[in-house]
Amino acid sequence: MDRIKVSILGATGLVGQWMVKLLENHPFIDVVHLSASPGKIGRKYGEVVHWFIPGDVPEYARDITLVSTEPRDHKDVDVVLSALPNEVALPVEQALLSSGLNVISNASPERMNPKVPLINPEVNWDHLNILREVKGNWFVKNPNCTAAIISMPLKPIQDLVKELHIVTLQAVSGAGYLGLSYLAIDGNVIPFIKGEEEKIDAELNKMLGKLDGGSYKPWGVNVYVTTTRVPVKYGHMAIIHAVLKDNANVDVKEITRRLVSFRSLPQERELPTAPREPIKVIDRVDAPQPMKDLDPMAVSVGRIQLRNNVLRLIALGDNLVRGAAGITILTLETMRAMNLI
Ligand SMILES: NC(=O)c1ccc[n+]([C@@H]2O[C@H](COP(=O)([O-])OP(=O)(O)OC[C@H]3O[C@@H](n4cnc5c(N)ncnc54)[C@H](OP(=O)(O)O)[C@@H]3O)[C@@H](O)[C@H]2O)c1
Repeated sequence: MDRIKVSILGATGLVGQWMVKLLENHPFIDVVHLSASPGKIGRKYGEVVHWFIPGDVPEYARDITLVSTEPRDHKDVDVVLSALPNEVALPVEQALLSSGLNVISNASPERMNPKVPLINPEVNWDHLNILREVKGNWFVKNPNCTAAIISMPLKPIQDLVKELHIVTLQAVSGAGYLGLSYLAIDGNVIPFIKGEEEKIDAELNKMLGKLDGGSYKPWGVNVYVTTTRVPVKYGHMAIIHAVLKDNANVDVKEITRRLVSFRSLPQERELPTAPREPIKVIDRVDAPQPMKDLDPMAVSVGRIQLRNNVLRLIALGDNLVRGAAGITILTLETMRAMNLI
């Protein structure tokens, strides 16, 4: 397909706004429709959006009239990109699929459906091959933002890992534009995020597993994870302790070499949204920090240490871009590079 026409659902939200931004002047993806909640239908995007990204609302989007999520409002596009809240997404996305539309979605329902690819392009672009057997329209899911970030540094070392222990420090923006009250999080840490720990375990195992004869075989590693919400606006951090296999004969230099040299199909094909270096190892003693080291699409890694066959590393990624909007666009670019669209 030469140019790809898309709609964005949830275009006024945090993830949706990033999609609008990333698709400004895109070389082969055109935004045709934008959608928000029912009360905003019929109004101009530029008039109603509370734009939170530095700079102005992209000019191309300002005068687009917001439409509903109904299939009839999207029948002239090639793919619908969904950034709807989890509780709204399922019936809307099912209706779009039933009407023959292709959907890439950020919402959590159906992520573990064995027929639905769960894609972080650098990590498991090959899982998209399941779509070669699909006749008609298709459905692709983005992973949970934290699972997306953590899966990046795990990919080049996954053959060494026996067991994982993870503690996350997740930004407030992970809960959406209206997700968490200022009073609840200012000066506070909340050591619970509903459903997050289960998602990270299951989704890491699906993404780092293999596509084998038309189904996904999980990676098979136990993931013990504790998630916390911290008073940071953007950027999810994960403190990862990986118990390595008894025969893992590596040192910090080899781990670092694997992380720094990691490249995948999006880099090899020089896709527009792909970071040149998907994993940045920062050797500053106090890195990575959300205020200093946050990159939109690359995952920053620091504090690599190996003791008694337990590897410690700290990963930081942008929950809204690498964890959501950026993956959606990169998945679409990857599908085009694989002739799946
Ligand atoms: N935030 C993150 O870090 C992150 C990361 C990965 C994945 N995700 C997932 O991405 C999705 C979007 O997250 P977000 O943080 O962007 O949420 P958000 O800021 O709350 O935005 C939600 C969007 O959905 C629209 N919406 C709400 N109810 C609707 C309805 N009934 N019908 C149609 N549109 C409706 C909202 O429109 P109005 O502006 O009109 O209310 C807004 O555009 C969620 O599924 C979330 O789990 C989020």
